Amino acid sequence: MRGYFGKKTAIVAALLASTSMAMAEDVEVLHWWTSGGEAAALNVLKDDLAAKTIGWVDMPVAGGGGEAAMTTLRARVTAGDAPTAVQMLGFDILDWAAEGKLANLNTVATEEGWDAVVPAALQAFAKVDGNWVSAPVNVHSTNWVWANKSVLDGLGIAQPTTWEEFVAAMQAVKDSGKTALAHGGQAWQEATMFDGVVLSVGGVEFYKKAFIDLDPAALGSEQMTEAFNRMATLRGFVDDNFSGRDWNLASAMVINNEAAFQIMGDWAKGEFLKAGKVPGTDFLCFRVPGSQGMVAFNSDQFAMFAQAEAGAQTAQGEMARAIMAPSFQSAFNVVKGSVPARTDVPNDAFDDCGKKGMAELAEAASAGTLVGSIAHGHANKAAVKNAIYDVVTAHFNGEYDAATATTNLVSAIEAAQ
Ligand code: BGC
Repeated sequence: MRGYFGKKTAIVAALLASTSMAMAEDVEVLHWWTSGGEAAALNVLKDDLAAKTIGWVDMPVAGGGGEAAMTTLRARVTAGDAPTAVQMLGFDILDWAAEGKLANLNTVATEEGWDAVVPAALQAFAKVDGNWVSAPVNVHSTNWVWANKSVLDGLGIAQPTTWEEFVAAMQAVKDSGKTALAHGGQAWQEATMFDGVVLSVGGVEFYKKAFIDLDPAALGSEQMTEAFNRMATLRGFVDDNFSGRDWNLASAMVINNEAAFQIMGDWAKGEFLKAGKVPGTDFLCFRVPGSQGMVAFNSDQFAMFAQAEAGAQTAQGEMARAIMAPSFQSAFNVVKGSVPARTDVPNDAFDDCGKKGMAELAEAASAGTLVGSIAHGHANKAAVKNAIYDVVTAHFNGEYDAATATTNLVSAIEAAQ
């Protein structure tokens, strides 16, 4: 009898162990969502996975645009210790896929019908040679301005619709003694403003020729010098302490009535919402004046790194399935400030800025005015992106004038290809 029970207990224990391994396998997630609004959105994801008994091992590496996260990732993969899932942007996904490091998500993608609902612009970065390698969680867009409504109302400033009106509005704020433009002096933040500025100068045609096709004539054109001139104009409206400031602290300046405007991707909205602010009442969201009707996008995706163990592979697939569920895409993006990465999610739960973002994304996709963000890895591979960062930030910090910046941009991009 003892032997029987002993054996049975051992079998039950083994079964439990194997079940719990399959059910409660952890995913280790590398990401750069460390601000208040980002952490709130991340919690939506953590809670969703916890309800599905997928455990979470957190690997945060702060820094917008993900540069620092990508450096950490490279070290981890080189050490043979790739995380399960990695927040990743655009061309970086394609590069890791080309290195053969990513898992194949086709089984889940087929079961869930991703092909029919994920926009083509995102599939271009999520599918490689017909295989799904990552799960897109959102669509962000960079050519937004976030404005403090009471500061504008107090000064009698209307929402600017042209670049000239925008400059006049910033001048009026500056004259009042407040900071006109909240900005954090980090290369990726300057590059983020550059996305919208380039669109405002030459529209989608110029943006594509210069930054997607990397046409030297467009890169070295007078329009490019005008884009740098506009960046210098913006530089004249930031406060003295901008160097090195994190983007969310710049958002906080607008939230706390210290500054009127911030040019930043719609992750900034996550900070306003976290602070209890309401769009239309407390703050305004509008496109960088001159870039209306155009959308510079970036999509956070979770690239899945190939795992040896079956349990880890299962957890990875389930995480991908969870991320792509329509209800999750709504719940997450409402908090994150972004819009869903699938075309069939209702906009009911979204605030006015979110509804606008969803409508404008769909319109831009059909009108051909949707372009990948230069700053956030959706226009070029990392080497070219970093070359652009270097020139944009050196010019912004007064190292050289606009004409020299244009010349340097041409040579830096040529060298990076
Ligand atoms: C990401 C956003 C993130 C932002 C600031 C961007 O590159 O796409 O999800 O909120 O950086 O950290």
